[in-house]
Amino acid sequence: MRDEMNAPVTLPDAQTVTSVKHWTDRLFSFRVTRPPSLRFRSGEFVMIGLMGDTGKPLLRAYSIASPAWDDELEFYSIKVPDGPLTSKLQHIQPGDQIILRPKPVGTLVHDALLPGSRLWLLSTGTGFAPFASLLREPETYEKYDQVIMMHTCREVAELAYGRQLVESLKDDPLIGDMVGDKLKYYPTTTREASLHMGRITDNLTSGKVFTDLGLAAMDPAEDRAMVCGSLAFNHDVKAVLEKFGLREGANSEPLEYVVEKAFVGDGI
Ligand code: FAD
Ligand code: A2P
Repeated sequence: MRDEMNAPVTLPDAQTVTSVKHWTDRLFSFRVTRPPSLRFRSGEFVMIGLMGDTGKPLLRAYSIASPAWDDELEFYSIKVPDGPLTSKLQHIQPGDQIILRPKPVGTLVHDALLPGSRLWLLSTGTGFAPFASLLREPETYEKYDQVIMMHTCREVAELAYGRQLVESLKDDPLIGDMVGDKLKYYPTTTREASLHMGRITDNLTSGKVFTDLGLAAMDPAEDRAMVCGSLAFNHDVKAVLEKFGLREGANSEPLEYVVEKAFVGDGI
């Protein structure tokens, strides 16, 4: 089996950075050229990275934040202090090259869910990234009558990338009309005051989000969900969704919800 971390870099795996935007001192997004042969489903992730000091590629999993139809690839990234990759990656500039292994995979894809009428996208932190792809994917609005995007961070500034992306959708020439009023955006913070506050788990369990948005409570006959956050968040959201009667699906067995890790935590 090919070892992704140690495989030599070949020319097709190098992509050029086209733009970089820093959102906070811990978050940035960037765009790179797309290999013409790369096909992926909106919501999937790939391995990207830089050459390490030892001359071997230093690669990490990253959700593709751009939709499958985009000419370029977008990524939304944390800056981990002393993180092997992101302590370097945060300094990339347009014209620099990154490594991209063109083997997309993942469970946050439409194919892994049974048909339904409402889609819940539930994320914390950089777990928003796969949903940045799916929110720009026409299939999302073809398949569902309503799409509810819940994103929770500690502080307001950490919501900025998601907020700007959601706000840009209505003017998007390709999908603006499709989005219409189908999309409901529910950002919350937990450690700084903002319009809506609280953990996603708490807002679902208490019913606050249903009340605030004027929606019926979750029903496994109608509702589908995609989840992306820390391991603790994913674990706790799964329990909430199961209480509503939703079951976890996969590419091989589509059901009512799917889950992906936004990152692997310390010591796990
Ligand atoms: P690492 O050694 O990889 O991580 C060091 C520590 O930093 C981790 O133990 C953890 O505690 C913390 N950490 C790592 N990533 C994050 C994060 N995203 N948010 C909060 N804390 C973190 N990262 C992204 O920034 N954007 C993505 O789209 C993304 N998609 C991923 C998809 C999958 C399926 C997985 C498994 C991970 C994903 N990651 C994503 C995490 C990414 O792979 C790296 O862990 C991250 O880029 C940090 O790399 P590093 O080498 O600097 O530090
Ligand atoms: P909180 O501030 O109450 O811990 P982090 O930065 O630690 O990854 O957290 C990102 C966001 O996810 C924070 O708003 C945090 O809320 C929330 N969060 C962390 N763990 C959980 C969990 N187990 N269930 C629900 N929300 C969580």
